[in-house]
Amino acid sequence: MLRVADERSSLLEDDIASRLSFAVGDLRDFSAPSRYDHVISLFDVMSYLPDNGAFKQALSNIKSVLKPGGLLVFDCWYGPGVYTQKPHVRTRRLIGENAEILRIAEPEFHYDRNVIDVNYDIFVKDRATGRLQQFQERHPMRCFFDAELDELLGQAAFSRVFAMEWFTEKAPSIQTWSALFGYRLAQ
Ligand SMILES: C[S@@+](CC[C@H](N)C(=O)[O-])C[C@H]1O[C@@H](n2cnc3c(N)ncnc32)[C@H](O)[C@@H]1O
Repeated sequence: MLRVADERSSLLEDDIASRLSFAVGDLRDFSAPSRYDHVISLFDVMSYLPDNGAFKQALSNIKSVLKPGGLLVFDCWYGPGVYTQKPHVRTRRLIGENAEILRIAEPEFHYDRNVIDVNYDIFVKDRATGRLQQFQERHPMRCFFDAELDELLGQAAFSRVFAMEWFTEKAPSIQTWSALFGYRLAQ
């Protein structure tokens, strides 16, 4: 992904490309060379932090790279929507030039922690040889509720600026699976 990002940035105008850099790191344990105006974390990354300890560690690292008054924007699985709609078994089939892929996702609820393990079985068939490979992955996804986010972020000196449904920008509701939040760090 870093290689692709580097390749794509070389297609941008020089004054933009020269200001971009890419690095890989764990939210719970990363540092950056300077402080930034904004931190943006998209596509459920925060839901991969399975408990308050990990979430607080990530917030503390985010704070260390954010300027005072800076904005943190992130999306996550939204508790009211997830508990109302409930994940169910899903299959997805992709047919490519070289391979056919079948992915089965089976959810497993941990109500005490607001975590849903999404257990994937992935079957990959090489179209030329017919050889079949199978992989398994477990993605523990935490869903969040407004009050706990306000509490956790408030403890880290952030206050809420906005909450909206991802993509539609409506107010989050029981129809909302993924919500986008903005919190500002105190000055
Ligand atoms: C649904 S993917 C979104 C990927 C990416 N943001 C994008 O736009 O393509 C969730 C990502 O969260 C990353 N992730 C999970 N736990 C993480 C952690 N502790 N620190 C940093 N990234 C993490 C995973 O590696 C995965 O790439």
